[in-house]
Amino acid sequence: MKEFHNFGNRYRLNNWCILKTYMLICYFSNTEPIIMEYNILSPNIFEGILTVTVSRPEALNALNTSFFEEMDHLLSAVENDPAVGVLVITGEGKAFVAGADIAEMVNMTPTDANRFSLRGQQIFRKMEQIEKPVIAAINGYVLGGGLELALACDIRVASGSAKFGQPEVNLGLIPGFAATQRLSRLIGLGNALWLLMTAETINAQEALRIGLVQKVFEESNVVIEAQKMAALILAKGPSAVRKIKNVVRNGLEMDFDTACKLEASEFGSLFGNEGTVGMRAFLEKRKPNWNH
Ligand code: CAA
Repeated sequence: MKEFHNFGNRYRLNNWCILKTYMLICYFSNTEPIIMEYNILSPNIFEGILTVTVSRPEALNALNTSFFEEMDHLLSAVENDPAVGVLVITGEGKAFVAGADIAEMVNMTPTDANRFSLRGQQIFRKMEQIEKPVIAAINGYVLGGGLELALACDIRVASGSAKFGQPEVNLGLIPGFAATQRLSRLIGLGNALWLLMTAETINAQEALRIGLVQKVFEESNVVIEAQKMAALILAKGPSAVRKIKNVVRNGLEMDFDTACKLEASEFGSLFGNEGTVGMRAFLEKRKPNWNH
């Protein structure tokens, strides 16, 4: 018999009914609930969109070992949970995340630090590799490891007051959660080296200009806008969306011709099922019902 996880008191009362219903659905459908007691992550599910808030505002949500434990668990649960279609990640208070936890890192030995770096890389890789889309709703400071978290998300939207940077060199460090690799792939070599070498902090408009974020919204709207984007994605063919993530992400790591073959194979796999449903609906001038 499956045990209910204790939600703790992290959830606002107005979400309680939704959470209770969700737990009951999990219980009766024999699905492992993704809602468990987290100390740093605050997950909240509504209509297929799981909004996860990094909640350690007293340290500007700095990423420590516990964060990675919780995120590891959450991503495994999300991957296997049909109730979750899209993940939105944001931060509580005046930061999305202000970096890896300097207080935890300061006493690390080289071996500890190497292990911490590999662990962070592993979890951010897992985030890239889950089939479900992940949107970063960036508020306030997004620095160092925080920007690395955002870089591992599929889409980034930001509040107009967000502040972006890779300040590791100010500390005599380099990034440890793969910014040296993801940043140059996303915004180009020159922009990446500029941010990494100067530790310059840039604003949301500049981040938009260099392609670091896709959209900028008013501060009070950024999570809602990310959720609206998630809802837009949820209305599309679910297999098609999953395959987009797979082909685009994995294709980037292949040579062009092999990647195109992967595209053709995934394109073909949608015929006779979801693709046919969508095309028939178009020809019959109605909305597709993806469940059939
Ligand atoms: N780690 C641990 N604690 C942090 C933190 C971090 N990355 N960032 C902020 N905090 C803590 C502060 O120490 C402070 O704690 P106390 O109240 O106990 O003193 C609290 O959060 C609030 O921070 P500030 O008082 O500094 O807030 P501020 O508004 O004056 O400044 C800030 C905000 C400019 C973001 C400043 O906090 C800052 O520069 N933070 C560090 C940013 C940074 O260097 N990030 C990179 C970390 S290294 C990294 O990420 C490596 C990697 O890739 C693996």
